Amino acid sequence: MKAQVLVVGSANADLVVATERRPGAGETVLGGDTVTLPGGKGANTAVAAARLGADVALLGALGDDGHGRLLLDSLSGAGVRTELVRIVDRPTGVAYITVTPDGENSILVSPGANLALEPADVDSALDGARVVVASLETPLPTVEHAIAAGAAKGVLTVLNLSPVAKVADSALAALDVLVVNEHEAAWLLGAESAEFSRLLELGPRSAVVTVGARGAVVVTSDGLTEVASPKVDAVDTTGAGDAFAGALATALAQGDSVADAARRAVRVAAMSVTRRGAQPSYPSASELQ
Ligand code: RIB
Ligand code: NA
Repeated sequence: MKAQVLVVGSANADLVVATERRPGAGETVLGGDTVTLPGGKGANTAVAAARLGADVALLGALGDDGHGRLLLDSLSGAGVRTELVRIVDRPTGVAYITVTPDGENSILVSPGANLALEPADVDSALDGARVVVASLETPLPTVEHAIAAGAAKGVLTVLNLSPVAKVADSALAALDVLVVNEHEAAWLLGAESAEFSRLLELGPRSAVVTVGARGAVVVTSDGLTEVASPKVDAVDTTGAGDAFAGALATALAQGDSVADAARRAVRVAAMSVTRRGAQPSYPSASELQ
């Protein structure tokens, strides 16, 4: 079955360097060769969904440059609809990523063109969508409007609260599914270790907390459901959360419950960490079998 998923979010060129360890302030460390890969939380989410067979469009902004063309190639190669991707007069977003031997990454993003995405871009894009999924590398007013307008039109709304930021209370209250990792959950709840059930007090109908290699915890008004992840050898966790969000949105658009959608999403995210990069590492539906 086809899904109608609209992703509102960023597209970046990922400049990835493998390193034994990260430099501290004032320090220089030699790493490996730079690899340039298509990334950005929005584009990653859209590509993950398209690989799984979703009918998905990205609402985003790119510069008129080589990085922008790299992103367009990756998006259309995966089957993401790109007619809502605007080309603007700023450089395409760039993410500077270091990956250490344990597969962990740290990322510095220069948003560039992503900052040109405006609330007015959202309205017509929502027509025909069943699920809208947003993340936070594009301007907050645009994301908040996407959630409010999506909810008003009866579109199922999903927010991946990454990178973590203060989102309007009204947007959280309009959300169907809030997706956070443990750190984001703790930040939201203002606690060292979070009591996940309290996420619903912030307004969303349900929440999904990704807990790394352990999988995810689904929070609904019925209580908590733990969803275990398959055990894998991680080589690069970059974009695993975006793969999770794209798979979750796809399953929700196909009518899955949040818990069933999370079961599919943990498998997709687990497979993504076994391969390098973000978009190039996302599995197809047949690979998941
Ligand atoms: O979530 C991973 C993504 O974060 C990378 O692809 C990078 O572009 C940053 O947006
Ligand atoms: Na990966």
